[in-house]
Parts: sequence; C-alpha cells; structure tokens
Amino acid sequence: MKGKKWYRKEDIAEEYEPKRFKGLGGKYINYREKKSVKKALGNIKNKKILDVATGTGRFSIMAAEEGGNVTAGDISLPMLEIAKNKAKRKDLIEELDFIKMDAENLPFRDEEFEMVMAIRFMHLVNEPQLFLKEMKRVTQKRIIFDTFSLLSLRVLYNKMLPMGSTLYKKKDIQKIAKNLDLKVKNKIDSFTMPFGFYRYAPDFTIKPIKNLDEKISKNQLGKKLSTVNYWILEKQN
Ligand SMILES: C[S@@+](CC[C@H](N)C(=O)[O-])C[C@H]1O[C@@H](n2cnc3c(N)ncnc32)[C@H](O)[C@@H]1O
Repeated sequence: MKGKKWYRKEDIAEEYEPKRFKGLGGKYINYREKKSVKKALGNIKNKKILDVATGTGRFSIMAAEEGGNVTAGDISLPMLEIAKNKAKRKDLIEELDFIKMDAENLPFRDEEFEMVMAIRFMHLVNEPQLFLKEMKRVTQKRIIFDTFSLLSLRVLYNKMLPMGSTLYKKKDIQKIAKNLDLKVKNKIDSFTMPFGFYRYAPDFTIKPIKNLDEKISKNQLGKKLSTVNYWILEKQN
C-alpha cells in the first residue's frame, strides 16, 4: 500500500489541495465530490461520524458544517495538521476530533459510530475487504466510500500516478459486500470525465464539458462509464 507512506511527506501534504482543487476544473471536482458525499450521508445532524483517511479534512469539515459530530483520522500527521488548521480558520475546531490512526486497525470500540466514511481511500488499498471489515466493526449501520472504475477513462493515466491507484470493477465491490454480509443500499455514479481531465484542461473548456458530463452521467451509458462510484453499504440488522 504505497499511499500509506506517500502522504506522510510534508511537501506532498502541502501540495495536496493546491495541486488538485485549483482553477475552475479543480474547484468543480471539489464541488461535485462534496455534492455526492453529502447525498450519500443524508441527514447527519448530531450523528456520530468517523471519517477514515480525512487527509486535509475536506469531507470531515463538510460533515461538521452539516451538523455531524465528527471524528477525523489519518495516518499522516502533516495531512492532519493541515486539516486542523483549516477547521480552526472556519471556527469549527470544537466540532471535530482529529486523531492519528491506521485504517487497518481503528482505535475505536465496536459500533462506536453511526456512520463511517472513507473518500479517495480505497484506490490506495490492495486488500479492500480487510479495510471494509474494520469499518464495519466500528459502524452501527452505514459505510460510505468511493472507488475508481476500471471501465472508465481513468485507465488512460491511472498507471502513471506515483502514489499507486487501484481500479475496481463494480462486481468486485458487490462481492466484498456479500462476503461481509453488507447490503449495497445505494451507489452514486459520477464523473464520466476523469479527475485528470478537470485538473489540467483550460478553464474555457470546463463549463461545456461539465454540462455534458452531468447530462451523460444521468443515463445508463454514463452510469456504466462513470469514473467514480460512491458506495453506500449498510449492515443487515
Ligand atoms: C487521497 S487522500 C484523501 C484524503 C481525503 N479523504 C480527501 O478525499 O480529500 C488519501 C489519504 O489517506 C491517508 N492514508 C493512507 N493510508 C492510510 C491508512 N492506512 N490509515 C489511515 N489513513 C491513511 C493518507 O495519509 C491521505 O491523507
């Protein structure tokens, strides 16, 4: 698991957001990801939520803004430091707990949280079932995570990514859910054009392409070709 070490380097942590979410395309990625995760979370007011691999805290802070009682964890201290500073700037530091942790062995009791999420994490992992089993242990009901699809335009550059990135077939996740006795409650298919396009395309191309992307994403072909899939799994009881 290369990503476990990759983000622990200070310069990599500092570059994380400026590299990915600047410019019109970058801002659009951030906006559209948050929209999907918000939908997957549903009403989280006063709910106890764990964000595994919070990184710079994008989704933890968003969940705290939505009224969630959020614990944000990551293995990288430099990433956590950035997340904490962001929460301070937004006057949300009291609403969040930041903890250094390894997703392989979460430092929490069984069923300590009402929901557990891990965004942009599964692509760093070689054995997803192991991590999902651990997330299942600490959640009372719901697990939310995203995967990057093998049947998508992301294949064009995925192998070049320095932190390593695993692509999944939808049936891989369905099989893991079955093995772990988890129900696939919902799946949100998003981004026909991969993140790499939005990161590097000139600003004037973003609006027409994103409009087309959103339109295609609603039909069956778009869903099949989606580069990002948000999974909502639930315990059966
Ligand atoms: C691509 S970033 C995603 C951050 C955030 N969720 C987001 O979407 O912006 C991946 C994060 O996973 C963290 N990570 C990698 N391996 C981990 C592990 N075993 N346990 C906890 N965090 C880990 C990295 O430090 C990094 O912050």
